Amino acid sequence: MFEKIERVPGDAILGLIEAYNQDPNPQKVDLGVGVYRDSHGNTPIMRAVKQAEARLLENEKTKSYIGSHGDPRYGKVVLPLVLGADSAVLAANRASLTQSPGGTGALRLAADFIKTNLPGKSIWLSDPTWPNHLGIFEAAGIAIHKYPYVSADNRLDFDGMLATLKTIPQGDVVLLHACCHNPSGFDLSQDQWRQVLEVVKARGLLPLVDFAYQGFGDGLEADAFGVRLMAENLDEVLITSSCSKNFGLYRERTGALIVIAGNAEQMENVRSQMAIVARENYSNPPSHGAAIVTEILESSELASVWRDELTDMCDRINGLRSDLVESLKPYGLDGRFAHVAEQRGMFSYTGLSTAQVKRLRDEFSIYMVGSGRANVAGFTRENLPYVAKAIAAVVE
Ligand code: LMR
Repeated sequence: MFEKIERVPGDAILGLIEAYNQDPNPQKVDLGVGVYRDSHGNTPIMRAVKQAEARLLENEKTKSYIGSHGDPRYGKVVLPLVLGADSAVLAANRASLTQSPGGTGALRLAADFIKTNLPGKSIWLSDPTWPNHLGIFEAAGIAIHKYPYVSADNRLDFDGMLATLKTIPQGDVVLLHACCHNPSGFDLSQDQWRQVLEVVKARGLLPLVDFAYQGFGDGLEADAFGVRLMAENLDEVLITSSCSKNFGLYRERTGALIVIAGNAEQMENVRSQMAIVARENYSNPPSHGAAIVTEILESSELASVWRDELTDMCDRINGLRSDLVESLKPYGLDGRFAHVAEQRGMFSYTGLSTAQVKRLRDEFSIYMVGSGRANVAGFTRENLPYVAKAIAAVVE
C-alpha cells in the first residue's frame, strides 16, 4: 500500500534548521526559525529555568498522570499572567485553562473544539499569517478565509483588515495575533484594537487570540493589551498562550488554551468538552515545561530573575532592529528598511522578495523564510555588516 504514497516537501520553516546545519560556510547566518538567540548566536536555557529545574529535581514526587487539563497550579499562575492579576473575568470565574503541548497544541485544541462544538463556523486568518495556522485549521476540517493585514508596499493594512472584518458572518471565528505578529512584526495600536473590538462585538464574532510572544514586543503587560481588552469586554473569547519563547521552553512543549465564557456555568460546560478534545488527541499534556513555569511564577525570587531575563531579550531584539537599519545606511538603504525598526517581536517582514531570499541563501548562506521573514534575534553585531552588504547586493 505504501508504494502509492508521494513524498511531500518538508515544513518551510523547520526545514531551514536542517539546511542551515548542513551548510559548511563559516559565515552562515540563521534568520529562520523563531527562536531567541543571544549575542553569540546561542539559544541558552534561561537562568530562572535552570534554577527551577534544580528545585524540581530535588522536590518532584511523582510522574503519575496530571489529567487532561494539566496541573491546576499551572493554570493558577498562567491565567493572571495572561489576563492580568486584577481581571474581572477571573474574579467572576469565567475563565478556564487547559495546559497544552505548546501553543501549537493549544491551537489544535481550539480547532477541534470549534469543529465539534460550533459546527459550520469558519475561521478568518490574517494574510499573511504563521503558515502552520493554515495547516492546523485545515487538518481539523474547518473552512478557512483570510482578511488583509499587510499591504503591497509592506505596511500594516489596517483599513483593509477592518473592512473585511465588517463582512464576516455572525458567529465565525477570527484569529488575531495578540502581539509580535508572525510573520510581519506589524502590531495593532491600542486604538486599532478598540476598533477591532467594536467590529467583533457588532458582528457577534468569536475571537481566537494567539498569544505566542508575550513579553517580546513592549513587555509582559503592554503586550497583553489586546487580549485583555477582548477578555474584559466580550462574553466569549478563546486565547492560545505559549511559554516556548518567553520561558525559552521550545522543546518542552508548554502552552495553554484559555476559554472565556459568559458565566461560570457555561465555562464549566465548555471546560468539560475541552477535556474530551485533549483526551482524544494526547490524553494528558507533557508535564516538565509547565512544572518549570509553575515553579518560577510561584516564587517571587525566580519570577523576578525571569522577568529581568525576558526584558533583556526583548531589549536586545529591539536594539538589533535599529542596528540593522543603521548598518544599511552606507548603502543608502536605511529609508527603504526603516520599517524594521518599527516592527515588534522576533520577526520582521523585510520586504525582500522570494527571489532575493533565495539569492541570500545561495550566494551568502543567509537563511530566512521565503516570504522575506527574518528572525531579528539572529543578527549579531559581528554578522550585521555581512548581512547588510549581502542585502545591498541582492536588492540592487
Ligand atoms: C516560527 O514561526 O518560526 C516559530 O513559531 C516556530 C514554528 O513552530 O514555526
